[in-house]
Amino acid sequence: MTKLCSIFLLTCLVVTIPTFYANVLEDEEFLDNQTKSFDGYWKGRKQVAEKQNQEAYITDPYSFTINMTNNISDLITGEEKGRRNLAGKQSQDSCLATNPIDRCWRCDPKWSENRKKLADCVQGFGRDTIGGKKGPFYVVTSNLDNDMVNPVPGTLRHAVTRNGPLWIIFAHSMNIRLSQELIVAGDKTIDGRGADIYIVNGAGFTIQFVKNVIIHGIKIFDINAGQGGLIRDSESHYGLRTQSDGDGISIFGSSYIWIDHVSMRNARDGLIDAIQGSTAITISNSHFTDHNEVMLFGASDSHEEDKIMQITLVFNHFGKRLVQRMPRCRFGFIHVVNNDYTHWEMYAIGGSKHPTIISEGNRFVAPDSKDAKQITKREYSLEPEWKKWQWRSIKDEVINGAFFIESGPDLTNRPFTRKDMISSRPGTYVGRLTRHAGSLRCIVGKPC
Ligand SMILES: *[C@@H]1O[C@H](CO)[C@@H](O)[C@H](O)[C@H]1NC(C)=O
Ligand SMILES: *[C@@H]1O[C@H](CO)[C@@H](O)[C@H](O)[C@H]1NC(C)=O
Ligand SMILES: *[C@@H]1O[C@H](CO)[C@@H](O)[C@H](O)[C@H]1NC(C)=O
Repeated sequence: MTKLCSIFLLTCLVVTIPTFYANVLEDEEFLDNQTKSFDGYWKGRKQVAEKQNQEAYITDPYSFTINMTNNISDLITGEEKGRRNLAGKQSQDSCLATNPIDRCWRCDPKWSENRKKLADCVQGFGRDTIGGKKGPFYVVTSNLDNDMVNPVPGTLRHAVTRNGPLWIIFAHSMNIRLSQELIVAGDKTIDGRGADIYIVNGAGFTIQFVKNVIIHGIKIFDINAGQGGLIRDSESHYGLRTQSDGDGISIFGSSYIWIDHVSMRNARDGLIDAIQGSTAITISNSHFTDHNEVMLFGASDSHEEDKIMQITLVFNHFGKRLVQRMPRCRFGFIHVVNNDYTHWEMYAIGGSKHPTIISEGNRFVAPDSKDAKQITKREYSLEPEWKKWQWRSIKDEVINGAFFIESGPDLTNRPFTRKDMISSRPGTYVGRLTRHAGSLRCIVGKPC
């Protein structure tokens, strides 16, 4: 149905309404099935992760969003004041980095010798993510994925299931078809720079009950559900997994996650889902196309643990043939800043269960259909209830009739500062800030 939706939208709309609750129930049942299938091992992992996730929660997310905005304004207004030195000495003109995250590493012609510098560049709620910075490099040399229990050394599955931190890079360009979900252990960076890495036509990534994962510079296309079976999840353990749900990246009960410069399109379920109390996440500089339900943050109205969810979406491009959920949120606090929304068929940002959504300096270009001009969508609640949810649009640029329906109390706990410059010409800036969204082609020896 996902594919049908993007192609035959009209039919899809008609079919979607009556089956909506059915889909939700099916999703919940799927999760319940997964939870029930946890044995003692996963129950133990869950307990440890829940504690880590609690610790990652920031008690003052509003002031945090101001700091993020100020960082961007600083760059735009040139008020660097020497706080963030540009890497290398070459002139800024030859460096294409157009936003503060990219500025931190892309101008360095020796980026390939200083790969771990990337771990210092993340901003937003995922800012303390260091991935495999403290570990050695691991070079993936083979695109094979044919042993789920004892993966062959040199394969991506072998790399991500090692214990301890690893900075994973690739010997050359490759297409990797994952035979089952790729269960990524904590303290890993997957760094595709310098090669064309396609994760394609197979299962997707699962980041479950871990912390500290960076995924950077790869393409994740055409993802299906894995059938399930015996799958290794760490050096010391493998076990029976039920069918995976077919997300591009599934973040499940995990914290300190940074997804940057990833290109994603077409997965059986979501492109990126963050559920089950996940938090401290930044999704940045990524490019999304060809998908119905793009991002789900919080999977169920009964999962109150998602109250600790804090996610930053920044400098992403939501592009062609997308339909809805960019993202769809429950409970958490979502800062959506300087993203370019050039396509949606139903709506862009939605949710239920009183999530907080601060939408700031984005560009929203509505589709031509006059029924899809509203950026926002509230689900399963009547106006007296959703009027209390804090959804704010701060100097977003709206084009072609797009409109954002705000709700909730005034943002008194998030005063504007003089530096809130980003607001003055957001449209112009968003184009520039997101110009290089998606996987980059970095050449060794040159600024990227
Ligand atoms: C959940 O598990 C039951 C029993 O194994 C199965 O019949 C059902 O199809 C599963 N539901 C989903 C949505 O996977
Ligand atoms: C925001 O930045 C100020 C000044 O750098 C700092 O003191 C404060 O702790 C930051 N707040 C958060 C929530 O990060
Ligand atoms: C602002 O930028 C600084 C320096 O790059 C960084 O350490 C900090 O985490 C950023 N703040 C936020 C809220 O992302």
